[in-house]
Amino acid sequence: MTADKPDMEALRRGGKILREGGLVAFPTETVYGLGGNALDPEASRKIYRAKGRPSDNPLIVHIADRKDLDEIAAFVPEKAQILAEKFWPGPLTMIFPKTGRVPLETTGGLDSVAVRFPSDRIAQLLIREGGGFIAAPSANTSGRPSPTRSEHVEEDLGDAVDMIIDGGPVGIGLESTIVDFTETIPVVLRPGYISLEMLRETLGEVRMDRGLLITDSSVRPKAPGMKYRHYAPKADLLIVEGEPEDVISAINGYAQKAQAEGETVGIIATDETFGKYPYGVVRSIGSRAHEETIARHLYDVLREFDKYQVKAIYSEAFYTPRIGQAIMNRLLKAAGHRIIQVTEH
Ligand code: TXA
Ligand code: MG
Repeated sequence: MTADKPDMEALRRGGKILREGGLVAFPTETVYGLGGNALDPEASRKIYRAKGRPSDNPLIVHIADRKDLDEIAAFVPEKAQILAEKFWPGPLTMIFPKTGRVPLETTGGLDSVAVRFPSDRIAQLLIREGGGFIAAPSANTSGRPSPTRSEHVEEDLGDAVDMIIDGGPVGIGLESTIVDFTETIPVVLRPGYISLEMLRETLGEVRMDRGLLITDSSVRPKAPGMKYRHYAPKADLLIVEGEPEDVISAINGYAQKAQAEGETVGIIATDETFGKYPYGVVRSIGSRAHEETIARHLYDVLREFDKYQVKAIYSEAFYTPRIGQAIMNRLLKAAGHRIIQVTEH
């Protein structure tokens, strides 16, 4: 179905499954979510089981009406109201102290709750049909790239969900920006399409979680989910950084050497550089001139390489102006922070 032509009969069926404690995967503007009733501890347990997700990693509660926020958040500071006004519905998740209505099973044992009001119309209709409070992590097997098409959900979770709603490929392709409001100064726990700069323009002071900036493992990210290796394709992924010509010639060197040894590498290029790689399995992730195309295709490209017997995947780096921070956060995690620096300074 599409957002312009939602299949109400299917959405009502999905809503019924959710109200009865079942699991329904559905599109949002960021990535596909694996939905269950957020107020039902047993539904949350089912979500963890289906994803193979550690039970200390809390779920985001999705709502489809601003007023519902007060049912689950015990306190919503002024600054959060401003963000809600400006970015909801949209790719923004905010963390608040929780009320007693939200079971600890949903929040991974924490006394705070993450809340998001998605803009995707299919998601909104399903959330309403399902009772208004839908816990939904990304609908992938834990550790795999997040799903940006219903086929990805099918691949990972097929039999573990009661229904998959196909709304076609998503628009954004990276998970929502998470802002923590349980501290005096708002803290970004996960970068996303709504960038740190956009948040600072609206609110003034906003911090970035130290666990995201420092790769030293002594500083734990505050969002439990951000500490795991994540979004990873099956083959080893390496990021090659430096001046564009140096990056191209280094990657061609690795690819040529692999070919001489009877092996193949994967290469993640852009529309601008695609034609400059003569060896290996080369995929363009999007155009540097349109950074949102890079965000949109990242997970799809990572998954696509699982279909090939590649020895390793080499990727260009994508420090684009606005979404670059979010794109590189995901790519670095997928690569286990392995970077090859090819330009000497
Ligand atoms: O765009 C999105 O946010 C997607 C779509 C489906 O809405 N959902 C999503 O959920 O990305 P998930 O579960 O894959 O990621 C949720 C992240 C995890 O890193 C988790 O640790 C963090 O949010 N989180 C959730 N509740 C939290 C809390 N109370 N305190 C700190 N971190 C929290
Ligand atoms: Mg996830």
